[in-house]
Amino acid sequence: MTRSPHKLIPAEFSPVPSLDNTCEVVAVRDFAADLDAVALLVAAGTDLTAVVGLGTDALAAAGFDAEPGSSLVVAQDGHPLVLVGIGKADELDADKLRDAAAAAARATAKKGGRIGIEVPELALDARTVGQVLTEGARLARYRYAVLKAEPKEVPLALLQLKVAGADAAELTAGIEVATVTVRAAAIARDLANTPPGHLTATDLAEVAAELGAEFGFEVEAYDKAQLIEMGCGGILGVNAGSVEEPRLVVLTYMPDGDPSGHLGMVGKGIMYDSGGISLKPSDPMHLLMKMDMGGAAAVLAAFTALRDLGTPAAVSGWLCCTDNMPSGSAYKLGDVLTARNGKTVEIKNTDAEGRIAMMDGLALAVEAGVDAIVDIATLTGAAMMALGKSRAAVLGNDQAMVDRVRDAAQATDEPVWQLPLERRYRKQLDSDVADISNLGGPHAGATTAALFLDEFVAGTPWAHIDIAGTMSSDADDSWRSAGATGYGARLLANLAAGFSA
Ligand code: BES
Ligand code: ZN
Ligand code: ZN
Repeated sequence: MTRSPHKLIPAEFSPVPSLDNTCEVVAVRDFAADLDAVALLVAAGTDLTAVVGLGTDALAAAGFDAEPGSSLVVAQDGHPLVLVGIGKADELDADKLRDAAAAAARATAKKGGRIGIEVPELALDARTVGQVLTEGARLARYRYAVLKAEPKEVPLALLQLKVAGADAAELTAGIEVATVTVRAAAIARDLANTPPGHLTATDLAEVAAELGAEFGFEVEAYDKAQLIEMGCGGILGVNAGSVEEPRLVVLTYMPDGDPSGHLGMVGKGIMYDSGGISLKPSDPMHLLMKMDMGGAAAVLAAFTALRDLGTPAAVSGWLCCTDNMPSGSAYKLGDVLTARNGKTVEIKNTDAEGRIAMMDGLALAVEAGVDAIVDIATLTGAAMMALGKSRAAVLGNDQAMVDRVRDAAQATDEPVWQLPLERRYRKQLDSDVADISNLGGPHAGATTAALFLDEFVAGTPWAHIDIAGTMSSDADDSWRSAGATGYGARLLANLAAGFSA
């Protein structure tokens, strides 16, 4: 990669360090003798006297009640043993098991990088068990540590899964799916955690090209001169204040056989959002604006999973990448930009830049004739205000498409909640001088932002995922680790894997 010398970024710096961390995951009948620790998942009411020499009452007295969230390190000959509660066995679902594996991986984090997880016989199918155990443990142990001389934790290098009564081949099949989904989520996290000076739009396009070559999809990147030729006035407008060039990165995945349909994905790729001329006021929150490309990261990461998940649909992606900076050349309030589809947009707030950069990507998806569009964006503080940091907002013009997103979100435990695309609010986006303005009223900000995007999908079935809240986590929490969550990468991969026109 070519890098600005003044930033002293080593030429070998990788924005996707997770690809260098390998973790072996295997289903076993007996654990290796030299593991650093073993976690035993314990259902409520299980008598452990024979295993740890303590009955249920003694364990409760020591603070372990086998409920989710409860754990206890018990001294053992050989490797340390950690008890991790999973609650009532008949209430256990895939999400709770994923969370339990995450808790197990965290409870053993201080012990080392080679761990085992032992699971009692469960009512869930073995493939799902293998998948969610692997996802929970590996995602929980994710750390962004490339810029630290001394990482605090040893990375997970070996995970052995011992599941009572489970078919080994089925478990292994689940582990293999998780290897792909975890890799995708980790790539999305890496990209969003990377400092903005270490990952410009140009850098992201180069990373995309490398990932495409490795994981089986085509990548084309369009630079500033090409975007002018193409009439992408939105990306160019947002980019006007930056010394860094924009990039529109187009991803194409083709399945081996006849495609079951053609799905379009559009990602907001604001490499850093300062607000532009509508400069954001000083606030610790703005540290997070390096993650304003979390939507683009999720789309790119999902593409790395498509081939290995055997995705039957053709999938195309448009990543709208630029930073949003104030300067003498920046776009101004009152400016009117012309989008790829010819619509004119009056800028009333340069901090509502995501919708502006994405309008060109959406218009291009329509031109490509996709059967449906999903877009993903760290779009509005309003979505975070409404739903908090663990659930994303979903809105759309087609209930079937919204439902597909909800189903995928359910499967991957990247939860969403539908907000209404209330068309009565469209008039808030009216402009006196242009076809539309980029700013709605003081309320329903997530809805008015979506109504803006709706203007560029030309009636194509479309769902929009607003991940302003879910892109990051303040602390380790279930499968999320502190920092970028990679939210959306697994969801989009799941959506594509099940897509047909
Ligand atoms: N990137 C922000 C949205 C955001 C806020 C993401 C908090 C993550 C955490 C977006 O570009 C923005 O600034 N939106 C404005 C829109 C407003 C000016 C209409 C917002 O939400 O305040
Ligand atoms: Zn903004
Ligand atoms: Zn933004």
